[in-house]
Amino acid sequence: MVVSPERLDEAHPLLEGLDVERAAAPAAIVIFGASGDLTSRKLMPALQALMAREQLAPGTSIVGVGRSDLGHDGFRDRMRQAVEQAGGGDVDERAWAELQGGLRYVSGDYDDDATYQALDEVVADLDRHRGTAGNRLHYLSTPPGVFAAVVRRLGDVGLHRPAPGGDFARVVIEKPFGRDLDSAQALDRSLHEVLDEDQLYRIDHYLGKETVQNVLALRFANSIFEPVWNRGYVDSVQITVAESEGVGHRAGFYEDAGALRDIVQNHLLQVLALTVMEPPVSMSPKGIRDEKVKALGAVDILHPGEVAREVVRAQYRRGWVGGTEVPGYHEEKGVAPDSRTETYLAMRLRIDNWRWAGVPFYLRTGKCLPRRVTEVALRFSGVPHLPFAPTQATQLGPNALVLRIQPDEGITLRFGAKIPGQTFDVRSVSMDFSYGAAFAEEPPEAYERLLYDALMGDPTLFIRTDEVQQAWRIVQPLLDAWSSESAPLAGYDAGTWGPEEADRLLEGDGRRWRRP
Ligand code: BG6
Repeated sequence: MVVSPERLDEAHPLLEGLDVERAAAPAAIVIFGASGDLTSRKLMPALQALMAREQLAPGTSIVGVGRSDLGHDGFRDRMRQAVEQAGGGDVDERAWAELQGGLRYVSGDYDDDATYQALDEVVADLDRHRGTAGNRLHYLSTPPGVFAAVVRRLGDVGLHRPAPGGDFARVVIEKPFGRDLDSAQALDRSLHEVLDEDQLYRIDHYLGKETVQNVLALRFANSIFEPVWNRGYVDSVQITVAESEGVGHRAGFYEDAGALRDIVQNHLLQVLALTVMEPPVSMSPKGIRDEKVKALGAVDILHPGEVAREVVRAQYRRGWVGGTEVPGYHEEKGVAPDSRTETYLAMRLRIDNWRWAGVPFYLRTGKCLPRRVTEVALRFSGVPHLPFAPTQATQLGPNALVLRIQPDEGITLRFGAKIPGQTFDVRSVSMDFSYGAAFAEEPPEAYERLLYDALMGDPTLFIRTDEVQQAWRIVQPLLDAWSSESAPLAGYDAGTWGPEEADRLLEGDGRRWRRP
């Protein structure tokens, strides 16, 4: 929704000069889990940046809810620190002044009546004095175990609906959305007891990344790629989400998640969906999300008996990453000595539809790999007839198109070219496009984009309930197969590209993993 000038509270002189077409309506943004890391590292800096760019209307207010007893002043100090840290000491003081006037804090338990009574009063006061106009955006940055309780309690005090005169009440939740198909369905049932699906904004921060959205631009704003984007031309696709960091201080969370729940069920499958989906009729939220659901629905679901053949999981051992020695997963603080949690996963999957039948998709993700890199690489089939002598084409590899999602955001096209000289030898060369070089403008942080969209009521980049469930359907057989203690778990040295078993997965198909 775009704020119309009539709707804005005249009590705000700062509105003068505001680009009203671009500002989200004033709202009370309630952050549950406000004393946590995400609020300081991502949410508050994103809100400050949005206010600095006048994408938030003056009057927009932030209420932190948390178990720590910070008080309004303590919360304000912490948020100031967060904003300073994010800006490397630089703070847009005008934006901060506007935001800090609307910072409030409510301490209490997430499943306690008193917390919500207090919250209701604070929000009503903001409506009266800051012009938040009955609009609410609740952001659940809490452990997932309390999502259902928070939403139920919001319903009890009526904060799940806009106050009279308001336009919206929305709830943003962060993954994980359940820990398997059953619990994801149970979670959605309890959320839907209080909220309509169109009030729910499920975040996968990968969709907030500019270059992930650019997969759609590349495919659907150009005529040259789509004709070859299918089984007729594509030999295979590799999608990599590699991280050089280990689990660090997040072992408590990671032990229970592993690479499958942490990355594959959400980020990797989202990138896959955008890569393989059919062209939407329009870029409307429904148009795009319907196609993503169809794409995920076409993924061939493995039988538990096929998992060991199609999927490799592994755990990192002590090794060297970027010249630094790093401990093995078992040595990390908070990891059980006999932990069987996977920190690496590689899988081959198939998509049973007209466009992709027979094309293998190789997905991999891991911690403590040599570099942080996310990319989608399409390898094209060879030419029907190569009119060169084998000796002339020894350095010629397959054509490939690589979408570099992070870092070095850009696109690389690999093709064959003649080596200068008297002979007709050919070899592969690369043509590179870099977003950084082409556009002077810095893209917004993922959380800026997502918070803004949530306030504007644009759910395109959020995950709908049927997408979540399709994704769980794909990973559920893996969870089932790995519930047994005897399920295979390979090892790899930190700083390498993963276990040999993952190499063999592709070698059997006559292919190799790319070295990004
Ligand atoms: C998070 C995972 O969702 O994504 C983390 O929980 C992971 O384990 C992170 O490190 C990766 O995100 P990015 O944006 O750094 O690629």
